[in-house]
Amino acid sequence: MHDIIEQLERKRALARLGGGEKRIDAQHAKGKLTARERLELLFDEGTFEEWDMFVEHRCGDFGMQDNKIPGDGVVTGYGMINGRLVFVFSQDFTVFGGALSEAHAEKICKIMDQAMKVGAPVIGLNDSGGARIQEGVASLGGYAEVFQRNVMASGVVPQISLIMGPCAGGAVYSPAMTDFIFMVKDSSYMFVTGPEVVKTVTHEEVTAEELGGAITHNTKSGVADLAFENDVEAILMTRRLFNYLPLNNREKPPVRRSGDPAERLDHSLDTLVPDNPNKPYDIKELIYKVVDDGDFFELQRDQARNIVIGFGRLDGQPVGIVANNPLVLAGCLDIRSSIKAARFVRFCDAFNIPVVTFVDVPGFMPGTAQEYGGIIRHGAKLLYAYAECTVPKVTVITRKAYGGAYDVMSSKHLRGDVNFAWPNAEIAVMGAKGAVEIIFREDKADPAKLAAREAEYKARFANPFVAGARGYIDDVIQPHETRKRICRSLAMLRDKRLDNPWRKHGNIPL
Ligand code: HXC
Repeated sequence: MHDIIEQLERKRALARLGGGEKRIDAQHAKGKLTARERLELLFDEGTFEEWDMFVEHRCGDFGMQDNKIPGDGVVTGYGMINGRLVFVFSQDFTVFGGALSEAHAEKICKIMDQAMKVGAPVIGLNDSGGARIQEGVASLGGYAEVFQRNVMASGVVPQISLIMGPCAGGAVYSPAMTDFIFMVKDSSYMFVTGPEVVKTVTHEEVTAEELGGAITHNTKSGVADLAFENDVEAILMTRRLFNYLPLNNREKPPVRRSGDPAERLDHSLDTLVPDNPNKPYDIKELIYKVVDDGDFFELQRDQARNIVIGFGRLDGQPVGIVANNPLVLAGCLDIRSSIKAARFVRFCDAFNIPVVTFVDVPGFMPGTAQEYGGIIRHGAKLLYAYAECTVPKVTVITRKAYGGAYDVMSSKHLRGDVNFAWPNAEIAVMGAKGAVEIIFREDKADPAKLAAREAEYKARFANPFVAGARGYIDDVIQPHETRKRICRSLAMLRDKRLDNPWRKHGNIPL
């Protein structure tokens, strides 16, 4: 017995040491934490239950039979974040560069299967040289097993990926199928083919950082959701994100009431929208003033900034917020903003998180770049997402709601539950100037006449009452009472039930 305990402790010590002191020092020298240090930060203290510490690879080629490290390059198990269950895998770059072997993949699959059985999220900390080269196709098979589970878990338990080192080749497709991707600046990258292959095939010279670093994926590609300065920040923000999410799709997200009164008024909002309808303002000011304690967790803040997405709480209830931002491209909908918001709305819908939408949208972005790029198909994604969505939907039109974009942005017609407008809202087919130039084309030569027509059109349509008269909006509210009215709406909607007809799955325009 004594021998076994000794052997156990020896194996544990070996596993904890991973690839050894030298490689740990090299990891630290790159500004990275080790797989285990990351887990210590991620979990509530002392809650981590490790599994499969003694798993070893089964490769007998290239001298690998004499090179086995218990755990095989990935630390797996479960623990608590603020007292709530979560399953995690954390790849250990100090062991064969975190490369994925058959056994390594089996460890990941095991915790994913268990997470699905008990209904708990999965967080993956990725830091890996990709497929374990010595294992060949066994490693590719391992990846595919993980991919299959990513898809089966999608919409069932939340999945979060942290990219904290290399993530290249087909390996990027596991994080790509998870709900959120966080990257660490200067030490993580994701690409399907690396700079060398790019150079050979397309003759482009590009660094790994430019090709697939955190900034690239948070500004250009839209692949990642946030970029952080270092491992510590990325992990602490993951803990914050986790607090908004339910553990699975059968649960509601956790309500956490603060001292912020649901009925709180904010009179500064009465002057948020400038008198001149063409003047921009920052919609984030409204978001921060409406949510509990001004606490808003924004996602994808550095790309498609004409739409804002993120999580907040209203009277303790987590909500997903989608808002056109007139500060960028006048808040219009284009390809990237439509995709960004559509995926977010679908996440909220899958996980019972109500959607609050703030609308100030002049329409879809015109131009050949947008049309050739497929704005029709991509814009339809957002339309589809809102129309399919059955969670509580509360919408506030703060200024413009023009054309097709009015319909798309959680309108009453797409089963918006509560649709408000501020008094200066303009709900119309288009802006007054554009409208009269079309319908009174014959007056174009006479600016005075055209101006009179514009004023007439404005008086008739540039207000919320035409839509109000048809019941397309439920009430015209004062900006200062926005929080109170949304909170009441959400309370009323708490037990909302709405089901879409049975089908295998819809065919969202991908
Ligand atoms: C086995 C690997 C490995 C791999 C790295 N190592 N990648 N071992 N399989 N894929 C080992 C190295 O031999 C080294 O071992 C240790 O990990 C650290 O690697 P270094 O090269 O010293 O580190 P660094 O300079 O930081 O470079 C990291 C790296 C580089 C950029 C990831 O190692 C690299 O390019 N690796 C190969 C990447 C690759 O081509 N992977 C296959 C991609 S295809 P020692 O013992 O010296 O410490 C793929 C397909 C997936 O993944 C398909 C899914 C469908």
